[in-house]
Amino acid sequence: MTDTSSLPVYPHRHLLGIRELSPVDIELLLDRADAAVAISRRHEKKTSTLRGRTQINLFYEASTRTQSSFELAGKRLGADVMNMSVASSSVKKGETLIDTAMTLNAMRPDILIIRHASAGAAALLAQKVGCSVVNAGDGAHEHPTQALLDALTIRRAKGRIAGLSVAICGDILHSRVARSNILLLNALGAGVRVVAPSTLLPSGIAQMGVTVCPTMAEGLKGADVVMMLRLQRERMQGAFVPSIREYFRYFGLDAEKLKAAKDDALVMHPGPMNRGVEIASEIADGPQSVIQEQVEMGVAVRMAVMEALLDPRRRPSEDYA
Ligand code: NCD
Repeated sequence: MTDTSSLPVYPHRHLLGIRELSPVDIELLLDRADAAVAISRRHEKKTSTLRGRTQINLFYEASTRTQSSFELAGKRLGADVMNMSVASSSVKKGETLIDTAMTLNAMRPDILIIRHASAGAAALLAQKVGCSVVNAGDGAHEHPTQALLDALTIRRAKGRIAGLSVAICGDILHSRVARSNILLLNALGAGVRVVAPSTLLPSGIAQMGVTVCPTMAEGLKGADVVMMLRLQRERMQGAFVPSIREYFRYFGLDAEKLKAAKDDALVMHPGPMNRGVEIASEIADGPQSVIQEQVEMGVAVRMAVMEALLDPRRRPSEDYA
């Protein structure tokens, strides 16, 4: 990439969650990602940092931006990238996650990117395979690269993370994005508020170091960043909200509710968006929205993470020991 030999060696082999990262680890990844943004904006985007390395994307859940940005990130670093299409693989014939992982491991990849509906799937895989593992979302547990790309977007727009007020709004209960963001923002010294109906808040959320706000008016008051979350209806059994119309009326972000935040507050959404459910189109496409920047930062962050994990200075001899 740029001259990475001057950057400190990243101390971890896997990226399983934000919880295991120190503030220094996080800043190091964000600094590397800043350099990767410049590469993606060039006419010639290909580098040779991961030339000769093999990356496998193993996605058990639907994904548009996360899978494609991991693929592009790998290609921009010069890696050979393979997308395992779970829908047409032996997984459909009943193969277990571990058996699939062991089969892929025997092909000697250097890095495995996994998304799975069960919390802990990435950590389990990391114990079984001989390569680096990146968690691209495990159930309602963590989605570390999403939190990193959100932090990069905020840091580039506001110049800092510490001291900012961030309101995370919507379906916190089912959201790995919310969990990873809360951990990261707290680690870097931001103040986090969560706004949701009580049915969409996990029990014990206050112990994660956030302020719980029952209304958008309260949660958005003076906020620097408003992060909206998708209502994850595919993870809901039963009714968590009375009706979509009522949900939008009380918790959907529209121009009126956004007035409570600072005039220059950023509006964010990890995607995919449900327009008219958690966010009005005029806001999603409006001047305060940085939703497209988030997508751009996603490629940069994934380049930074893979490059850091596969840093050849990090004792490569221990791989496949
Ligand atoms: C999120 C996810 O999959 O957890 N999306 C994403 O990674 N871009 C959030 C969501 O699905 O709502």
